[in-house]
Amino acid sequence: MKRLLERAGKVITPALHHYYPLEIVRGDGIYVEAADGRKYLDFSSGIAVLNIGHCHPAVKEAIQGQIDRFMHTGGVYYNETIVNAAERLLSVTPDGLDMLFFGNSGTESVEAALKLARFVTGRQGIVSFTGAFHGRTLGAVSITTSSAKYRNRYHPLLPSVYQVPYPYCFRCPFNCKPDLCDLTCLEFLKGTLRRQIYPDEVAAFIIEPILGEGGYHPAPLRFLQGLRKICDEHGILLIFDEVQSGIGRTGWWFAAGHYGVSPDILTVAKGIASGLPLSAVIASRHVMKKWAPGAHGTTFGGNPVACAAAMATLDVIEQEGLLSQVREISEEIVTSLEELAVDYPLIGDIRGLGYMIGIEFVTETGAPNRKACDRVLQFCLEKGLILIPCGLERNIVRFIPPLITKRDDIRRGIEIFAEGVGKAV
Ligand SMILES: Cc1ncc(COP(=O)(O)O)c(C=O)c1O
Repeated sequence: MKRLLERAGKVITPALHHYYPLEIVRGDGIYVEAADGRKYLDFSSGIAVLNIGHCHPAVKEAIQGQIDRFMHTGGVYYNETIVNAAERLLSVTPDGLDMLFFGNSGTESVEAALKLARFVTGRQGIVSFTGAFHGRTLGAVSITTSSAKYRNRYHPLLPSVYQVPYPYCFRCPFNCKPDLCDLTCLEFLKGTLRRQIYPDEVAAFIIEPILGEGGYHPAPLRFLQGLRKICDEHGILLIFDEVQSGIGRTGWWFAAGHYGVSPDILTVAKGIASGLPLSAVIASRHVMKKWAPGAHGTTFGGNPVACAAAMATLDVIEQEGLLSQVREISEEIVTSLEELAVDYPLIGDIRGLGYMIGIEFVTETGAPNRKACDRVLQFCLEKGLILIPCGLERNIVRFIPPLITKRDDIRRGIEIFAEGVGKAV
């Protein structure tokens, strides 16, 4: 392992971050095998990518079937695989979102969403939410504020971008309590549309319905409904970035389905093709038809091998009944974690949806407790469970097992985690 790290250090830029100095040689379902022969329960899912686990046989078969025929068409000619994949993906997207553009990564889908919104509205303004992570290319990083490290030394960024507070209720920026909340955050946003930019100059609001990298915190339903209303009143396009929360992660195909709030534009990546690079920006045909030929494009986006993997992934989620299974087991996870929190006040908050759960560690005064979080994660790793953190202070554990993880393995993971919490006190 040491030797591999040394080699990597010579050829791979230090800009690229890895959570653990762990070399894996094989991935199989919910497990990875390390170079030293140890087997780990992988509850990181490759950062919410491996929703049906590592190397699912159906995905491997679909990939094999495609590579035997052709692997690339680019923009030169049509192929059926990409059309099949588009039809299949659009069969599970929220109502009214029925046309798409395929890209390769989350950040590309966000770039495409911003370009689409500006192009079709003819407006410049973009409103995003503090703590959001939307990607690392220059447009996406301009609306990313989960950490200044992503933006540092890249200024000037995209102009006409406005940041307003995310409804992070556990640490409400306006000190509201959830049961007494009068949505001051929404009022603040309305104020921004009077103080800084008139709504008729705003192309889009972009939001993660469940904040990902910024802290695994769901937005309240009333807030998203409020955003929808403002957008409808002013012809602003509502973009949901579901790169992390999509493709069944929440026990719904998309978190939008759980909320019953439909965006005008949806961004999708990560879990869509079980690890192969694929993403999509999705909107209504009405909106998409206004995007003129040549206004956007790609060489690799919609690669047929990735598209074949995507169809197999969606089929597995459907055929194995993973959405309902995730919803059911998720309730048990939250109950177990809440029981644990009774004994350990260093667990300040447990929140989330489906298999996208955040566990926030706090100090006695309620401040972010990164040390405790680190200790728990390290303990889990030593015991063979891979979990990763998030949040500006890295004090929140993301509990994101593959959707295929059954009750017994979830329990095993929680047992290890609970033991780690006990040791972190
Ligand atoms: C919500 C969200 N949007 C966009 C991105 C960027 O995706 P990618 O790393 O594939 O560019 C991420 C990645 O973590 C994400 O979580």
